[in-house]
Amino acid sequence: MALLDILVYPHPRLRDIAYKVDTVTDEEREFIKNMAETMYAASGIGLAAIQVGVSKRIIVIDISDNSDDLLVLINPEIIKHNGIQICEEGCLSVPEVYAEVTRAKEITYKYLNLDGKPVTQNADGLLAICVQHEIDHLDGKVFVDYLSRMKRDRIRKKLLKINK
Ligand code: NI
Repeated sequence: MALLDILVYPHPRLRDIAYKVDTVTDEEREFIKNMAETMYAASGIGLAAIQVGVSKRIIVIDISDNSDDLLVLINPEIIKHNGIQICEEGCLSVPEVYAEVTRAKEITYKYLNLDGKPVTQNADGLLAICVQHEIDHLDGKVFVDYLSRMKRDRIRKKLLKINK
């Protein structure tokens, strides 16, 4: 296994639109192991392939207290959503920035699991937020896009300075 480099906002590749995975092969499974290891090492609860510079529709999430409940979503899609919730979000690609974002409260989503089998599931609360946040990454979207331009500019300048 290997740790992958996480791209930091405003890296242009965070704007890439990820491609669907045709078949889940050992290559994807190996990559997913590395993604999970990278997420755990960074103490994150979610990571999208785009964030490590790979334009594939793959997400790993683990919101469990003991980091022992890995959820792997391949080609995830939200097929139904209901209600709204507002929660403070952060992102491994936007270090040390937290801001409130409005999301759907409940979602129904479908994806392929590690075996390439289609799965449909419901989520609410934190898991629903995570799935929406990570799917945004696959569409080239970062949570700071939901903030005002002024706030976003401030965050961009701060992170550009840090990463010089
Ligand atoms: Ni993120």
